Amino acid sequence: MEHDEKLTKLDRILEQYAGKPGALIPVLHEAQKVYGYLPEEVQYHISRGLGVPLADVYGVVTFYSLFTMTPRAEHNIAVCMGTACYVKGAGQIVEEIGEELGLKIGEISEDRKFGLEATRCIGACGMAPVLTINEEVHGRLNADQMGELLEKYKHMH
Ligand code: FES
Repeated sequence: MEHDEKLTKLDRILEQYAGKPGALIPVLHEAQKVYGYLPEEVQYHISRGLGVPLADVYGVVTFYSLFTMTPRAEHNIAVCMGTACYVKGAGQIVEEIGEELGLKIGEISEDRKFGLEATRCIGACGMAPVLTINEEVHGRLNADQMGELLEKYKHMH
């Protein structure tokens, strides 16, 4: 969704709730559905739209774990960097994924499709090296398979 399109949606949500008591939480909820997260500028917009102080909006966002200020990727790739995986080439796997997606560890792609992170041992050392994509474990990997594996997720929602 384009930026303007999101903003129009947000404005519509704000219109719908304006003047209603207890609107803040449902509005934040709806806004997070539109944006995927609640960055500062969205909170500011909501604060103005509802006439609620920004500090209150921020307070609610940080209080409820349901809300997030950091973008989450649609497909989160977590490469195990535990010892067993590391000695079996987890480093090359990270490198290969990084090249395929143009990402470093800790980053997410601009379209928020993929996120890449490193994890500690996930207890699947027998299948080293392993990674998880959206909690699904993939094991006995080698760097050459990464392109094919990622391709599947590129078309998945
Ligand atoms: S070290 Fe990777 S699963 Fe244990």
